[in-house]
Amino acid sequence: MDLGLRNKSVIVTGGGSNIGRAIVLGFASEGANITIGDIDAGQAEDTAKLAREQGAASCQVVKTDVTDLASVQAMFKAATDKFGSVDVLVNNVGWDKLMFFTQTDPEFWRKVININFVGNLNCTKTALEIMIPKNTGSIVSISSDASRQGELREAVYGGMKAAVNSFTKTVARENGRYGIRCNVVCPGVTIPKDPSDVGGSSMWSNMADMFTPDQLEKVAKALPLRTIGHPEDIVGAVMFLSSRKVAGYITGQVLSVSGGYSMIG
Ligand SMILES: NC(=O)c1ccc[n+]([C@@H]2O[C@H](COP(=O)([O-])OP(=O)(O)OC[C@H]3O[C@@H](n4cnc5c(N)ncnc54)[C@H](O)[C@@H]3O)[C@@H](O)[C@H]2O)c1
Repeated sequence: MDLGLRNKSVIVTGGGSNIGRAIVLGFASEGANITIGDIDAGQAEDTAKLAREQGAASCQVVKTDVTDLASVQAMFKAATDKFGSVDVLVNNVGWDKLMFFTQTDPEFWRKVININFVGNLNCTKTALEIMIPKNTGSIVSISSDASRQGELREAVYGGMKAAVNSFTKTVARENGRYGIRCNVVCPGVTIPKDPSDVGGSSMWSNMADMFTPDQLEKVAKALPLRTIGHPEDIVGAVMFLSSRKVAGYITGQVLSVSGGYSMIG
């Protein structure tokens, strides 16, 4: 099905690794013009090469730190300079390290808050400044089922992802009048298929520290669909919500893509 994304200008933050990489390749297969904003430019360049091979109209990498507004503005300028506008923003950057709340300290909290929430604010604000005058646009933010479940060892991260969900609904209410749609996708545990799919700044770069094979098996058994997610499982929902052609009447929604882990009515 043609999603109407051909030649659209799409920004994917954190597009160098794991879920972000799969999302970039999804837009590539639809023939989009893609800007990857990632702090790890080397890994993002590897993704861009794959994107060009898989049908992207064009794909550029802009080394970006989403926690820094000036850096984010430079990324959007590179996208508008090269592709004329920004039609779709995918706020994909996120980061966590699994720890009980009592083991964490204010330095860790600040890092989690900045990467998962302030980064989203910086990118969304800058996108809206471009999209409002054009009276069109789509913003999809990657949150987490941790925002809905109160996940063990993800207290601050889950809190910030819940902030992303709530923030997105307000932004959707405020900007629907400009034809701008804002939605959220919540993955569950989504592991890379291949270690080369993650970069050095990825939270999966030392995956063995986060999950042992035993733990992964237990997680899979607890899911209604009995299987752990892979990055490709997240792509369809993101593409669907990005597309005005098929999701043009959907805004302010939070959609779990997690093998049934969360079932919110
Ligand atoms: N993988 C999962 O199990 C899972 C589950 C739920 C939600 N999520 C969410 O999905 C999204 C993607 O997760 P992932 O597993 O692909 O993560 P990942 O850690 O593999 O990739 C994150 C990417 O963001 C980049 N990045 C990190 N900090 C950055 C910054 N300050 N500025 C710009 N780029 C930065 C990294 O270089 C990397 O390319 C995140 O928002 C994450 O919270 C992931």
